Amino acid sequence: MSRIVYVNGEYLPEEAAKVSVFDRGFLFADAVYEVTSVLGGKLIDFAGHAARLSRSLGELEMENPLTEAEWLAVHREMVARNGLEDGLIYLQVTRGAADRDFAFPEAATPTVVLFTQSKPGLAESPAAKTGIKVASVPDIRWGRRDIKTVQLLYPSMAKMAAKKLGADDAWLVEDGFVTEGSSNNAYIVKGGTIVTRNLGTEILHGITRAAVLRFAREAQMKVEERPFTVEEAQGADEAFVTSASAFVMPVVAVDGAVLGDGTPGPVALRLREIYLEESRKAAV
Ligand code: PDD
Repeated sequence: MSRIVYVNGEYLPEEAAKVSVFDRGFLFADAVYEVTSVLGGKLIDFAGHAARLSRSLGELEMENPLTEAEWLAVHREMVARNGLEDGLIYLQVTRGAADRDFAFPEAATPTVVLFTQSKPGLAESPAAKTGIKVASVPDIRWGRRDIKTVQLLYPSMAKMAAKKLGADDAWLVEDGFVTEGSSNNAYIVKGGTIVTRNLGTEILHGITRAAVLRFAREAQMKVEERPFTVEEAQGADEAFVTSASAFVMPVVAVDGAVLGDGTPGPVALRLREIYLEESRKAAV
């Protein structure tokens, strides 16, 4: 069945949705994006994604083409027109189409695209019951990972490298420390303390991360925001990753070293439960 895609103010069948070959998103990866999950037809953490979109655009000196209220209306319209119950809404804003030039064009109109991905039972993912295995690979991405740009070739290669090593996903390592996963934030748990990389330009400031750390602190769990090594992760009691698409996903092995008894740990499972419950309540 054809989806309804949003392109620059129009809702079109996906076959009719087109952008220019001169679009800077296509030519320079000059574009930012957001992925928001939908559970029961409602948007999870929408305000956080809207705020980060605004920040990413600002860092790249791009105008935000819509207000937060307009973004919300478009997201809701996409849910309605696609009959989306559980799944994801992908949104991308590019600097627009202009004759190819490294300098930013003086006046380009941003290209705005949204599409949905239906994922029935997204919150009941079988992987959350078994946990995933991660393999470490060098983090050779650019230096502004706090901006959510569509430069995703290296994360894509890292994920493929991890799969070749028999793992499900990659953990990226820079200067001896784990930065984050290929498309998620990374955590370890030792002696009840949750450890995750501190915010900076080295990682994406995950919207799920912010919510999960808030819930963890509210539940009196100890949180340390600092870098950790692969060796420290291999000696941890448990580990997990967070993202808008995976929520809280337990990690059961790091570079072949099995954590605990090789099944999802209690902290990851509890945080997944709290996150899903609270986020569903706050969904819009
Ligand atoms: N990825 N780190 C990276 C590099 C990411 O790409 C993502 C999200 C995250 C988690 O951020 P959030 O909790 O806001 O989703 C961390 C999305 C899901 C993607 O690219 O599909």
